[in-house]
Amino acid sequence: MSRAGFRGGSSLASCRSSNKYLSNISSFDCGHITMTYTALASLVILGDDLSRVNREAVLAHVAALQCEDGSFFSTLGGSENDMRFMYCAATICYILQDFSAINIDAAIKYIVNSTSYEGAMGQGIYLESHGGSSYCAVATLQLMGKLDSALSNTQRQRLVRWLVSRLTKEGFQGRPNKRADTCYTFWIGASLKLLGCLDLLDISALRQFVLSTQDPITGGLAKYPDTPPDGLHTYLGITCVKWADVRVPRLEYKRGRRDIA
Ligand code: FPP
Ligand code: ZN
Repeated sequence: MSRAGFRGGSSLASCRSSNKYLSNISSFDCGHITMTYTALASLVILGDDLSRVNREAVLAHVAALQCEDGSFFSTLGGSENDMRFMYCAATICYILQDFSAINIDAAIKYIVNSTSYEGAMGQGIYLESHGGSSYCAVATLQLMGKLDSALSNTQRQRLVRWLVSRLTKEGFQGRPNKRADTCYTFWIGASLKLLGCLDLLDISALRQFVLSTQDPITGGLAKYPDTPPDGLHTYLGITCVKWADVRVPRLEYKRGRRDIA
């Protein structure tokens, strides 16, 4: 069975050895669906034409990762199976323009069955609705071209209502009773954009929140206004530049103080 794809790093490959203790490690040495998605996306961003990617082998691995309930594992090396890896499978197929590796009916059934009593999606069946899982579900449907047909009007309206209700006095939270966090500007905001409902948002409040998490020294964005910035929150905060008109100021240093360009 194909185990092809991209790895997160090269440490497992470097463990390949004739040494009897280390040789066992190679059974875990295989592609990972999230690393494959991010590597392919990076190649596309860098202008690569993907002609050197072994599409057939990558797609065979993706196909082997789909479970009976429609969800996906992340790797044949052994992993959890949930909505995150379903989204990664869809992005790989979308980038390679070949959805033959996915049983689409089973995937749609998993997504619809993962809608909780609250109206939005969790990581799987009977799990709590969450902004990250809902994005993975909505984006997967969109990538498969099924967003308009998979959900009934009532299901769609309940989902939109749950997503919009995540806007707190600050920014978006990931689930009820949690603190607003910059990354949900993307997870929730992008879901609403895909559902065509951005006009329901108070964009200026969102913009205010994202900018309030910027670190005055490094310029990076943080999870909350009072925490250190990191790459993930900077990336996810900046993704709303287009739809929420958030222009993160470029920081310039003059005589030891920060100026906003
Ligand atoms: C924190 O959980 C988890 C997140 C902020 C990530 C949510 C995003 C996803 C599940 C989508 C991931 C997608 C891919 C492709 C890997 P928490 O319980 O600390 O967060 P919370 O308190 O804000 O709910
Ligand atoms: Zn976050």
